[in-house]
Amino acid sequence: MTKDWARNSWRLKPATQQPNYPDPDALSAAIRKLSALPPLVTAWEIGSLQKQLAEAAAGNRFVLQGGDCAERFDDCTTVSITNKLKILLQMSLVLINGGKKPVTRVGRFAGQYAKPRSEDLETRNGVALPSYRGDVVNRPEFTAEARIPDPSRMVLGYERAALTLNFLRAMVRGGFADLHHPEYWDLDFVDHSPLAAEYRDMVRSIADSLRFMESVLGVHTGEMNWVDFFTAHEGLLLPYEEAQTHFMGLQNKWYNLSTHFPWIGARTLNPDGAHIEYFRGIANPIGIKVGPSLSEDHLKRLLDTLHPDNEPGRLTIIHRVGRAKIESALPGIIKAVRQSGKQVLWICDPMHGNTHPTSEGIKTRDFRDIFGELELSFEIHKACGTHLGGVHIELTGENVTECVGGARNLTEQDLKRAYKSEVDPRLNYEQALEIAMLIAKKMSSL
Ligand code: PEP
Ligand code: CO
Repeated sequence: MTKDWARNSWRLKPATQQPNYPDPDALSAAIRKLSALPPLVTAWEIGSLQKQLAEAAAGNRFVLQGGDCAERFDDCTTVSITNKLKILLQMSLVLINGGKKPVTRVGRFAGQYAKPRSEDLETRNGVALPSYRGDVVNRPEFTAEARIPDPSRMVLGYERAALTLNFLRAMVRGGFADLHHPEYWDLDFVDHSPLAAEYRDMVRSIADSLRFMESVLGVHTGEMNWVDFFTAHEGLLLPYEEAQTHFMGLQNKWYNLSTHFPWIGARTLNPDGAHIEYFRGIANPIGIKVGPSLSEDHLKRLLDTLHPDNEPGRLTIIHRVGRAKIESALPGIIKAVRQSGKQVLWICDPMHGNTHPTSEGIKTRDFRDIFGELELSFEIHKACGTHLGGVHIELTGENVTECVGGARNLTEQDLKRAYKSEVDPRLNYEQALEIAMLIAKKMSSL
């Protein structure tokens, strides 16, 4: 067990990106309520994910991590959850085909509710109110009442996370994710996609290989039949994370049982800060988001604190430096890790370094930058003797228009049509499928 650590020892360190709750009694009451609720995931599932992440770090598996920038309470619906599951399954099918490796699916869901913000206050027409920090903290409407951080929203968020996960588990176990029936996963608009034919060819070839293995080789697909699903979210709102941190006697370890795979965002990586303090003591596999300005020394300190035992699968570096900086920044990040002697899993998040405002001030991302950063990441890792073991993508199963480019070549004009995100722009269904196809092609050419 970690020395001098408790699930609340982060409270002795400076904590950034936390809301200012006006009522401390209401905060304590919400934490008590949350702590008493049963966990969402188990230590066994977490252990099984860690094994898979270790395989990915060794180059024998690929990780697809994806979902909304922020889940919304109102999006906890059958359609929205089904569509997210479908697109992640479809993308993984495409990646299995291209990479010829098993794929682990990790959703940014069932708890991805808290958002870091650049300013504590948002000012409109001379009025300053607390920034919207995600549905688990407050509401996005620009009114004083909506923006007050309300601790009871943590309990509401946890309940929605439980509903989401319950439905996902039922769908996955109930056969929706059976690899023999990929036709269940078709989304309505695959029919109108310029990539429909290519996708259907891939599905056919996967079905053929399954049949071949079963009938000719006599291999029973058993485990392969069902696709595992894991959950992940940014461990940002520390009272929420603390409340669901439990000691598991059998393992003799502390786990965050609200998710399998929490990560630390790029803005909360202060080595002396509260987030690092919290994360160093939990036994889950964890991710850190590394941007272009993080120094090599800073990264080495993080590896010492968060990854002291070099346990396989424990630490994932999710680099998110942007298309423009990937060539100058990634080799240094890889070098620092190599000098530390630590093994990590490398995942590329090609979204967060590629956000820019349009001339009208709408936040967008260009599909070319997103794929450009991914493609270069594969190449740079290969040249450095490491390998990219996964991708982290903000996406939705809906037909939104938030990122420009892609096979349909969405333009800035299209953004007005169906821009729904309150936070970062996501790839829509077609763009997500297209990026999976491009990644698959890249993987098969390496
Ligand atoms: C995010 O993943 O939504 C996010 C805020 O990312 P980052 O911490 O990398 O900026
Ligand atoms: Co985001």
